Amino acid sequence: MQDWLAAQARVRRRRGVLRQAIPRTAGRAVLDLASNDYLGLAADPRLQAAGIAAVERYGTGARASRVVTGTQPVHEELEAALCALTGQPAALAFSSGYTANLGILTALGGPGTLILADEHIHASLIDAARLSRSPVGMFPHADLDTLAKLLAARTQPRAVVVIESIYSVLGDAADLAATAALCAGHDALLVVDEAHGIGVAGAGRGAVHAAGLAGAGHVAVTATLSKALGAQGGAVLGSAALREHLVNTARTFIFDTGLAPCSAAAAAEACRIIAAEPDRVAAVGRNAALLAAGCGIEQAAGAVQPVPVGPAQRAAELAARLEEAGVLAGCFRPPSVPDGISRLRLTARADLAPEQLRWATGLLRSLLSPTEAAAWATT
Ligand SMILES: Cc1ncc(COP(=O)(O)O)c(C=O)c1O
Repeated sequence: MQDWLAAQARVRRRRGVLRQAIPRTAGRAVLDLASNDYLGLAADPRLQAAGIAAVERYGTGARASRVVTGTQPVHEELEAALCALTGQPAALAFSSGYTANLGILTALGGPGTLILADEHIHASLIDAARLSRSPVGMFPHADLDTLAKLLAARTQPRAVVVIESIYSVLGDAADLAATAALCAGHDALLVVDEAHGIGVAGAGRGAVHAAGLAGAGHVAVTATLSKALGAQGGAVLGSAALREHLVNTARTFIFDTGLAPCSAAAAAEACRIIAAEPDRVAAVGRNAALLAAGCGIEQAAGAVQPVPVGPAQRAAELAARLEEAGVLAGCFRPPSVPDGISRLRLTARADLAPEQLRWATGLLRSLLSPTEAAAWATT
């Protein structure tokens, strides 16, 4: 086993896809364009105060599964705050966005449920579909004609279609209205992962709300509390019947300790702030436009602006050069993206100043080879 581990690490290094745990800062001031703290709420004193108050009141842990003794008032407060923000009738909090995705698809899946998923969905949804024991079909990204054909050909009594509202890799937005209409026509449930939508799209209430689909019985939403909401945890939003089904059958809800009170309280506070401070949400869009213009790319729908680079090695090299100069950039390399289309991932946080963004994009341009610069100029 030791030899195999060493050989595997060598292969990763050679391919430029070696990953490591990266500290937020290595003890020096850096401009962070890599995190998912889209609204700059993770260090907001109001979230911190809410978290501290919850720790003092309820303790540091939930102590048990939510269905044993782990449900505390702060969980119900969070679920109500999520419903108020997104306009959904019911919410169920999970310990992460990952477990929320595993929870809903495994609880709805099985041999009688066909799962059809966009090929650009997040790894957690892919794992969820695999674990569900459902027959699974992947359709090409955003290809609704193929989805329609797959739905029409289904032999199973139930179908679930899985998409993201704003995709993490390309940062593009799904056509929610058309996909939901297709699902309605085929009696399928549409599950929309709003990890990159809530707090960013639709004045912060999410893309599903903006599309007028909040509360629609054939649409369910999954969310993370760890990106725009600045906390930790996840949730499924939808009908009361769906919530009841998940409480009784979602294994990652039943067999997992409840969300830590501190995270629940901080996320609830974030929901209230998002609803009350539309300017904060609007700043994400303004900063995204600045980042995209600075890099010469078309603006992506969400906070993350993916800058195409090409080979994984080059993406890692550029990210390392940026870091040396004081800019933290994310890096999408295989297996997060197919080989050959690695991307730098720049996040337009609401709390960044225009001059910081101009400086960072100028720096990135100065690192490009003449060929890369010419290619970027034509994109
Ligand atoms: C689309 C999507 N879904 C789910 C998740 C998982 O959320 P969490 O980090 O809360 O587990 C992520 C996180 O990167 C994501 O991008």
